[in-house]
Amino acid sequence: MTTEPRWTLLEGEALRIMAELPDASVDAVITDPPYSSGGFTRGDRMATTSNKYVQTQTKTIRADFAGDNRDQRGFEKWCALWLDEALRITKPGGSLLMFSDWRQLPLVTDVVQIGGWVWRGIVPWDKGEGTRPRRGGFRSQAEYCIWGTAGGLRDDHEAYLPGWIHVPVTRNDKHHITGKPTDLMRELAKIVPLDGLILDPFCGSGTTGVGAIMEGRRFLGIEKIPDYAAISRRRLEEAENTPMLFAESPGMTSPPAPLFELPDPEGLELCAACETLRPLDALDFEDPEAPVCASCIDESFAEHG
Ligand SMILES: C[S@@+](CC[C@H](N)C(=O)[O-])C[C@H]1O[C@@H](n2cnc3c(N)ncnc32)[C@H](O)[C@@H]1O
Repeated sequence: MTTEPRWTLLEGEALRIMAELPDASVDAVITDPPYSSGGFTRGDRMATTSNKYVQTQTKTIRADFAGDNRDQRGFEKWCALWLDEALRITKPGGSLLMFSDWRQLPLVTDVVQIGGWVWRGIVPWDKGEGTRPRRGGFRSQAEYCIWGTAGGLRDDHEAYLPGWIHVPVTRNDKHHITGKPTDLMRELAKIVPLDGLILDPFCGSGTTGVGAIMEGRRFLGIEKIPDYAAISRRRLEEAENTPMLFAESPGMTSPPAPLFELPDPEGLELCAACETLRPLDALDFEDPEAPVCASCIDESFAEHG
């Protein structure tokens, strides 16, 4: 592990800042840009982000965010511009992981290719059944992470990652109107090797960076709205100062790499399912002989859900 600072946050316009970044300098671009989606009409799309995405009964007030009201042609052109810049900045074989919703999925899979990336697939993010049901139809329970690479896939990273990720949204892990869960971003960070550098040009409250740091990767974030840049800085500092037990990578062939000295070996117990040392308060002792951690419990629900 490097001892240099593991994250940088730049406040301002992404396209302008990206233009200053050197060629082939990051291992991956992992981002959740504005979707320019929501509603069925142009008027719906032009609404403020809090009107579009915050349910009326929600009490928390968060700042509106930038760039979410382009029309379809403007959105496509804008994505092509930043995706082209992102490709230049990414090392050969590095990955793009870009979120979208069901409405914009066809446009986004096209524009990733227009931007010059090799389209590799889609990783659905299952948000769980906390999402609003739809009378007479299907729940919008998933968002989609579009995967592309800068040319051929790198062959020096022994990761075998899942084709679908289930992580519910929880209120205490949401720091932005459309914030992603930290555990989701931790899973995605594993697309780069330990110590690899991840760029998020639309980083909002910094969840991509928090996930990257928790997994032993490094992070460069860009955000235009000062409120969210400040939230990102606070969360990134907290993540960097929080000792981690392990960088878990279930798909990796080698054992998990220790990131830090364990703070208190006495306070840890092995999860019977994933065989990872966990703090006692992260385990369910319903069976005292075989405690199980929360992520293993979630996974078993997902399997049978
Ligand atoms: C969907 S949000 C990202 C949320 C993030 N994944 C999280 O968990 O907090 C997209 C962010 O990109 C920012 N943004 C939009 N256009 C931008 C631009 N041109 N330059 C920099 N930031 C921009 C928005 O202000 C917003 O905070």
